[in-house]
Amino acid sequence: METSNLNIFFAEKFGCSGSLYFAPGRINLIGEHTDYNNGFVMPGAVDKGITAEICANGLDIVRVYAMDMPAEQQYIEFAINQESKPNQHWACYIFGVCKEMIKRGVEIKGFDAAFTGNIPAGSGMSSSAALENVFSVALNDIFADNKIDRFELAKIGQATEHNYCGVKCGIMDQFASLFGKKDCLIRLDCKTLEYEYFPFKPEGYRLTLINSCVKHSLGTEYNERRESCERVVEHISRNHPGVDSLREATIDMLLEVKAELDETDFSRAKYVIEETERVLTVCNSLKEGDYDTVGRMMFGTHWGLSKEYTVSCDELDFLASLAEEYGVKGSRVMGGGFGGCTINLIPESIHDAFVEKAVTLFSEKFGHKPEVYEIVIGEGARKL
Ligand code: GLA
Repeated sequence: METSNLNIFFAEKFGCSGSLYFAPGRINLIGEHTDYNNGFVMPGAVDKGITAEICANGLDIVRVYAMDMPAEQQYIEFAINQESKPNQHWACYIFGVCKEMIKRGVEIKGFDAAFTGNIPAGSGMSSSAALENVFSVALNDIFADNKIDRFELAKIGQATEHNYCGVKCGIMDQFASLFGKKDCLIRLDCKTLEYEYFPFKPEGYRLTLINSCVKHSLGTEYNERRESCERVVEHISRNHPGVDSLREATIDMLLEVKAELDETDFSRAKYVIEETERVLTVCNSLKEGDYDTVGRMMFGTHWGLSKEYTVSCDELDFLASLAEEYGVKGSRVMGGGFGGCTINLIPESIHDAFVEKAVTLFSEKFGHKPEVYEIVIGEGARKL
């Protein structure tokens, strides 16, 4: 990412220069809404992300500029020992990371920072995890005597979301942004945090995002889905004490308690149990180069998310249906849902024609153009 503008901006604001850090956003091939159910996910880091310049300032205040925000929302400062959250939402991520690091014994002192990013807002590529990670990696580097390991940094990002930003998310986004590796997807077991890199260069295919530009922001609706899953686990575990998440549950176990469950909770849990299976199927199919199966699983995820988990929208359903019709191998809503992108596994031979068609037909139907990004799988968060 071009950093010279950031350097100039930082020097203008603070009259000095600092160290540069970068944390990427992420894509996810499959395994959606499985992370907080202790299941499997298959994400990778992207080449887009957030770059921050940071320097200790010898004071007990934090001063930060979000370079890409409108001028009146660009600046925030807070005292290191301040209890109340800053009044800009973007700053809560940084505030939360500081608090969570202090909780873990890091002596965070005052610092000056400015950051800029190139992850399209609301696209479902997790700019929030990138923001948490760029700060946790930097502050760990600058202030921690005993360095916190990357597993704990991922938990710091997740705890920031839970405690300061109102989203009871899983760990996938923070993990992918920290552990990303060029040209690899990561199969992560969200129960044990065991992970394995899967080289991903599908011969003859392109992995492309189509952004519906319906802005999503996760909050109440996301949290409600998590609560549904937890309620179902409570019911199942009465019959099966070993089950403490949907990861351990089977469809048969779910059917046993069907009569006790709300219809919505039932459908949501069914989706999650089936999705955990789909991720494992995709892992095996990738090893065999069987992209037909990979693609079929992706469509399965899409319609599960749309009809059972109900986190899709007309625009995303339209894009997935169109993909199915035009012979795209797999297509589905990516990330938390409610807007953002579809991720598409497209045969090279039809890539350009399909993308053109999708942009035209989508624009005609919804009155605005979707954005298209070719995915480049990159490295995880780092000092530049
Ligand atoms: C968001 C959350 C993740 C995960 C996805 C859905 O991106 O931050 O933890 O739950 O939604 O898979």
